[in-house]
Amino acid sequence: MAPQRRAGSRTAESGSAGMEARAEARRRLSSVIKGNSQKVSHQKWLKVAFLLSSVVLGCLLSGSYFFSEEGVTEVLGHYGEIIEDRFIEVPCSEDYDSHKRFEGCTPRKCGRGITDTIISRVEAERIRRIAEKGLSLGGSDGGASILDLHSGALSLGKHFVDMYRYFGDKVHNIFSEEDFHLYSELRQRIQQQIALSFGISSSSMYLTKPTFFSRINNSEAKTTHDEYWHPHIDKVTYGSFDYTSLLYLSDYTEDFGGGRFVFMDEGANRTVEPRAGRVSFFTSGSENLHRVEKVHWGTRYAITISFTCNPDHGIGDPVLT
Ligand SMILES: *[C@@H]1O[C@H](CO)[C@@H](O)[C@H](O)[C@H]1NC(C)=O
Ligand SMILES: *[C@@H]1O[C@H](CO)[C@@H](O)[C@H](O)[C@H]1NC(C)=O
Repeated sequence: MAPQRRAGSRTAESGSAGMEARAEARRRLSSVIKGNSQKVSHQKWLKVAFLLSSVVLGCLLSGSYFFSEEGVTEVLGHYGEIIEDRFIEVPCSEDYDSHKRFEGCTPRKCGRGITDTIISRVEAERIRRIAEKGLSLGGSDGGASILDLHSGALSLGKHFVDMYRYFGDKVHNIFSEEDFHLYSELRQRIQQQIALSFGISSSSMYLTKPTFFSRINNSEAKTTHDEYWHPHIDKVTYGSFDYTSLLYLSDYTEDFGGGRFVFMDEGANRTVEPRAGRVSFFTSGSENLHRVEKVHWGTRYAITISFTCNPDHGIGDPVLT
């Protein structure tokens, strides 16, 4: 722009012939400048487009981001990978402020972790057999059945029964002491992993209820208890929860389709693909709003194990009575 203004001020001092020549020169100059700036912005554009497309391509190739009508999806844990110890920190919500705080346990650091290495696939299979045995006694008419070894709650038709009362001594023929021992052993390992990841002492957290096995298939929901797919916040649903964990007992794409766990963040949905033996854990406040996708085919088994910092809400391991 500056050369044009200077050229203009000089023409005012010249004669008419000179004026025409200068006007012509000015037109040429200005068109050269325009052309150049167009070329420059075009190049910039190309660079940006190239960068953007390589980012998109990189993400698609690495399989971590997908763009669809469903929005943006990032995979935090693929079913095919073996994750030693993955931790993603997220800022804590204020949910913990409306509850009594327990220093050294109540989350100050919030986030999500995934590990495939603290529970083996053989152990996952053994614990899945406990779920199969227990749930074979009952089962929801809809797609989602639960079994809570602690309270004995078992889905049956459109309701729940207390398995220990309903089946009485028969329960002893179904479960063994080893089953309960295994549950306790795995619960302890998960508790230690959570404590380690969040930098707290394992002895300051307590198992809390409900803690349950779930079996989900694609049958149509019959009651609201079957509607597992709604987004929710564990601390809102169950005030006592501070840390939630899920142990998956079957494999996404092998045993069932759909049924991925989804953290619903503002910018993206972040999924954990279930894999037998995979433990996914997170702080229970609204920083971790989540849902489970509907299961499209097959059967998905998992167990939810939750922890509280409030000893008054603590429960012991389930015992075979
Ligand atoms: C997350 O998924 C839901 C559907 O489950 C969708 O409505 C929402 O737009 C998605 N969010 C983002 C940020 O893509
Ligand atoms: C799903 O499970 C229920 C029992 O909870 C069973 O009655 C139903 O047949 C199963 N549906 C399919 C499609 O396997």
